[in-house]
Amino acid sequence: MAPLPPIEVRIAVTPGERSACLDLRRAVFIDEQRVPEADEWDGLDDQALHVLAWEDDRPVGTARLRWLADGVAKAERVAVVRDRRGSGIGRRLMVALFQAAREGGATRMDLGAQVAAIPFYESLGFTVEGPVFLDAGIPHRHMHRNL
Ligand code: COA
Repeated sequence: MAPLPPIEVRIAVTPGERSACLDLRRAVFIDEQRVPEADEWDGLDDQALHVLAWEDDRPVGTARLRWLADGVAKAERVAVVRDRRGSGIGRRLMVALFQAAREGGATRMDLGAQVAAIPFYESLGFTVEGPVFLDAGIPHRHMHRNL
């Protein structure tokens, strides 16, 4: 495995950091993947914890975490800028979510994986469950792992 790049993942707290997360999601999901705006901006951002990956001074990835039932956290909106994919940033984002979820008392993490991203999540210990379903017109499967 190649050495990890100098990435720092932090919880997005300030308005500037929060809007950097939304800008990344707009570029990846709305502009690149053609997710409808109404699906992307689902009204749940205020109840989520957002993380932002920095490479030097550039925001290069984001993800959000929501708490479901007791002990279950859900990873959502995992996105890395196109030109930096495959260099370990997605993995760093997920590790930050694992840590935040554990600190919040979660013992399990759920997510809905785009079918194309299943190998990425499998490499992080997630297991698929259930059939393929469509979300924002994109095929997905549920996945989970213990924390
Ligand atoms: N197929 C197979 N393996 C993949 C993969 C893919 N499409 N994408 C990543 N992996 C593997 C890597 O090889 C790596 O394995 P290793 O640890 O054994 O070397 C591991 O997953 C981590 O890869 P990483 O470089 O951290 O992934 P990334 O920074 O490219 O982020 C995504 C992965 C999916 C977040 C990124 O590709 C992305 O933003 N895609 C567009 C948005 C998207 O589809 N998000 C997911 C919504 S469910």
